[in-house]
Amino acid sequence: IYDCFKLNNDMKIPCVGFGTYKAAEGNNVEVLKTAIEVGYRYFDTASFYQTEDFLGQAIRESNLPREDFFLVSKMWKDEMGYQQTKDALEKSLKRLGTDYLDIYLIHWPRPSADCENWKELDLETWRAMEELQKEGKIRGLGLSNFLPHHIKNILENGTVKPVVNQLELHPGYMQQAAVQYCKEHGIQMQAWSPIGRRRILEDGLILELAGKYQVSPAQLCLRFLLQNDIIPLPKSSSMERMKQNMDLFHFEISEEDVSRLATMPQAGWSGEHPDPELAQKNVV
Ligand code: A2P
Repeated sequence: IYDCFKLNNDMKIPCVGFGTYKAAEGNNVEVLKTAIEVGYRYFDTASFYQTEDFLGQAIRESNLPREDFFLVSKMWKDEMGYQQTKDALEKSLKRLGTDYLDIYLIHWPRPSADCENWKELDLETWRAMEELQKEGKIRGLGLSNFLPHHIKNILENGTVKPVVNQLELHPGYMQQAAVQYCKEHGIQMQAWSPIGRRRILEDGLILELAGKYQVSPAQLCLRFLLQNDIIPLPKSSSMERMKQNMDLFHFEISEEDVSRLATMPQAGWSGEHPDPELAQKNVV
């Protein structure tokens, strides 16, 4: 139903994924079953989200083969480190009911502002992931919420290159320096909160362009990310909005309008800042 991007290890990845953070609050399994029913196959989860169990159940009940799905999970801040990462992956696999992940991500580069040894911690975690990949338990290794200084540490000291990095990205928060850095290093960007937790859906420019292209404001935001070669990970609990969020291929935003959207004032993040130290200093 939807197209793919190619990662730097030659893996193919669907260009839209379904985010499972909080979307599944309440009627968890049903939400995920609906997402599968409307056609999502790429699911982004994390041990922190507590949606792995539900996702595993929804997948089993779909009766579709495991290979039809693209599953990404992440270890939480307190699961970082060499042995902890190995244990965390086993737990995620068990909850998902699978024997491999398509991609495993380090959820946050720095577990807390006062974690001085984050560089060593990231590398120990990465070393465990490299071994898990050799064992066939992970197809690709990736990062989440990593800024250039965090990524550099992995690129310079790891032996396997990250295939993706996931950041909060949406019109009005495009984290240009980090996106550019990843592009230069062949790391595929992914966007969490691609519609900015709805904050930007009533922005004047977004409403104007949504009207022009006859799409919803959310579709405009998601298509804008795609045209910037970024994989959006929308989440929704409604079937209608789930469908809308993957129906992004019948229109194209003109280059001029892409530039206008790129110059939207950068309002900052709506979720958690990628670097707690910078967040304390209020650096966007
Ligand atoms: P709902 O579950 O009621 O659809 P983000 O991914 O940027 O963090 O935003 C998530 C929020 O956006 C959810 O609360 C979700 O609510 C809402 N949402 C998802 N898709 C759409 C859409 N197409 N139009 C409007 N709101 C949406």
